[in-house]
Amino acid sequence: MDKQFRSLCLYMQIAEGSKSEHLISYITLTSHLHHTLHFLLPLVWSPHALSVLLLQVEEEAQVSRSLPIDDASMGEITNVMEYQAIAKQKLPKMAYDYYASGAEDEWTLQENREAFSRILFRPRILIDVSKIDMTTTVLGFKISMPIMVAPTAMQKMAHPDGEYATARAAAAAGTIMTLSSWATSSVEEVASTGPGIRFFQLYVYKDRKVVEQLVRRAERAGFKAIALTVDTPRLGRREADIKNRFVLPPHLTLKNFEGLDLGKMDQAADSGLASYVAGQVDRTLSWKDVKWLQTITTMPILVKGVITAEDTRLAVANGAAGIIVSNHGARQLDYVPATISALEEVVKATRGQIPVFLDGGVRRGTDVFKALALGAAGVFVGRPVVFSLAAAGEAGVSNVLRMLRDEFELTMALSGCTSLADITRNHVITESDRLRVMPSRL
Ligand code: FNR
Repeated sequence: MDKQFRSLCLYMQIAEGSKSEHLISYITLTSHLHHTLHFLLPLVWSPHALSVLLLQVEEEAQVSRSLPIDDASMGEITNVMEYQAIAKQKLPKMAYDYYASGAEDEWTLQENREAFSRILFRPRILIDVSKIDMTTTVLGFKISMPIMVAPTAMQKMAHPDGEYATARAAAAAGTIMTLSSWATSSVEEVASTGPGIRFFQLYVYKDRKVVEQLVRRAERAGFKAIALTVDTPRLGRREADIKNRFVLPPHLTLKNFEGLDLGKMDQAADSGLASYVAGQVDRTLSWKDVKWLQTITTMPILVKGVITAEDTRLAVANGAAGIIVSNHGARQLDYVPATISALEEVVKATRGQIPVFLDGGVRRGTDVFKALALGAAGVFVGRPVVFSLAAAGEAGVSNVLRMLRDEFELTMALSGCTSLADITRNHVITESDRLRVMPSRL
């Protein structure tokens, strides 16, 4: 940093307290100029300071872009969780916190991972595992593995290529990408990246004309199913977003809503996203709307956010084509069980009538295997996709999908399974199994 810039930072330090500490490390680390500007503009108070700053930021951004903080500089990436630390280093605090955080105490966030670790294997041995077939069919679409991409909003905050990169990586891996309603790329733009099987995640807005239009656009753009998110009548209380006054950076929009004048998010006294949801998302949403949705589209509907047997039965009765057992990555109601703990209850309640998928805390191939053993037809991953996107763009997302695939294949081999049909309930032992066994041992 040159002298002029240092003194400017010092001046800011005096004026803004610890904020400028963030500023300096932020400018040094970020490779995304627009993020930097977004962070700086509220702190700048004179045209001269602004021009000095803009010049410096551009220079820093150029240096930063040429210095890859990526897989290579972090050493070899050996599991998907390692991308989180890189993302934390690369992203502005506001963006990283938005991606990483869960609701309130983040109990469910931790539990989504820990519950997997309490499920153990009962592997079978001396089975020829020289050939392993991981292919499967989801709603009639053949995919290479039962690992798919969950909808995560605003991916261009993670990387300039955003949803384009994710779409390409998912297609190259032969699996399904789910595009968020709140994507920073439109359904048409994502479709233009090339062939691929894609689902569209839907938030139902108060204005049903908006919903109708959007669903029709997704269908026309070749999306194959709707993942209807039902756990968000209001946004969960994500305290990091409240502290950061989270708002979509001004150079980005919720692209699907741009033409409808709903693509921007206003700054609010707390989370800008929470205010946006309060203003636009329909809190009255109920099962009759699931029926209504079926009258405006021929796309099958996956109900995303079911975690009880009662709601499973209602989903079946109201024409759902499938269920995604999800607690929204622990971002909505805190102290709900981990999804892997709720899975069996849901699977049993479907009585085999519709497929059940799971998301939440899937970070290892062993997690995928455990979910399938407990009855899931496939899993979706959320945060690993955005973190790897932040770290290395499309290559990062491809690497995440490859690592999960390789780990899952290895788990199958070491458990004696050569196809997904070989994976059974007997291959795992859960906590409730152990509790059931214990009394007879006493
Ligand atoms: C999400 N999720 C989500 N879900 C949804 O239906 N629509 C959305 O726009 C988003 N956006 C979103 C953003 C971010 C940053 C996260 C982390 C999550 C929830 C997502 O689809 C999925 O349920 C969880 O991410 C799964 O948990 P893991 O894999 O992140 O632990």
